[in-house]
Amino acid sequence: MKKEVLVIYYTQSGQLLDIIENITESLKNDNTNITFYKIETNPEFEFPWKQRNFYDVFPESFLQIPCEIHPPDKEILSKKYDLIIFGYQVWFLTPSIPVNSFLKSEYAEKLLKNTPVITVVACRNMWLQAQEKVKRLFKSVSANLVGHIALVDRNINHISVITIAHWMFSGKKDRYLGIFPKPGVSAKDIKDAKRFGPPISDSLATGNFSTLQNKLIALKSVYISPFLIQTDERGNIIFSKWANLLIKKGNAKQPERIKWTRIFEFYLQFAVWVITPIVFIVFLLTYLPMSAKRNRDITYYSSVELKEN
Ligand SMILES: Cc1cc2nc3c(=O)[nH]c(=O)nc-3n(C[C@H](O)[C@H](O)[C@H](O)COP(=O)(O)O)c2cc1C
Repeated sequence: MKKEVLVIYYTQSGQLLDIIENITESLKNDNTNITFYKIETNPEFEFPWKQRNFYDVFPESFLQIPCEIHPPDKEILSKKYDLIIFGYQVWFLTPSIPVNSFLKSEYAEKLLKNTPVITVVACRNMWLQAQEKVKRLFKSVSANLVGHIALVDRNINHISVITIAHWMFSGKKDRYLGIFPKPGVSAKDIKDAKRFGPPISDSLATGNFSTLQNKLIALKSVYISPFLIQTDERGNIIFSKWANLLIKKGNAKQPERIKWTRIFEFYLQFAVWVITPIVFIVFLLTYLPMSAKRNRDITYYSSVELKEN
């Protein structure tokens, strides 16, 4: 019998779809059917972003408040899959609203329950806590996470902050002012994502996914910046306070919420340009004493395990 693979994804720029197409290239053969399902929301999120809309979506993103999604085709829902490839991007240290909305919908359990799933993330560089949130949502629908691939912008953090803003607000994945590097995942990393196909194909053929993540890690499917572990964790604590404050101000059109969203925007700039460099100095000063914990964290975040809190 043919193997059935479903790709569930959401992307605005198309970068993530390019990556997934490269990963699945070696899965395309006579024994495998690959179906693509793009999550679509109502209303759609506009791309390129207007600066105001970008910050407006923060509380709903971070608090994982779902919006309406279009149901998948009946044919997609009627099958049982041997493997699901789940592609998402990160919005404010959290899976994007379309992705949260799908995972909280009735369709998630229908499609993902007791099914091996590989997550594919393409984001700026901070995906660790977003993946933890995805792991928890997977657990709630009894999905079986068996592999994880995360591709990021490899330029230094502050450069990628500037270049991603240019990309998101102009829709152009090009060199800002002609001097900055291109934003997002590099063309080489997108192309080289093909290397993840063969081990996935082997696991699919045998139905044994138990060693897949170790094989993907050996192919450098995840890179974890030790500094960003802390930044992501602390960022979540601070974002939680801001998101809960902003959501109490009503919907994105309410004047009071608009006012506080502008304050949040300024705070974010301050956090990126003033607080983060200070935290980086503290990180360097505590580099040696923290090395055992850092290694434990890297092992954990590279894995497909979920820590019970
Ligand atoms: C509203 C918004 C918030 C974002 N927040 C983050 C973030 O917290 N961490 C991160 O690494 N990337 C973040 N990004 C970048 C996205 O993860 C992703 O790289 C970008 O949206 C391109 O995705 P696409 O090519 O699939 O459309 C954000 C993007 C948007 C639009």
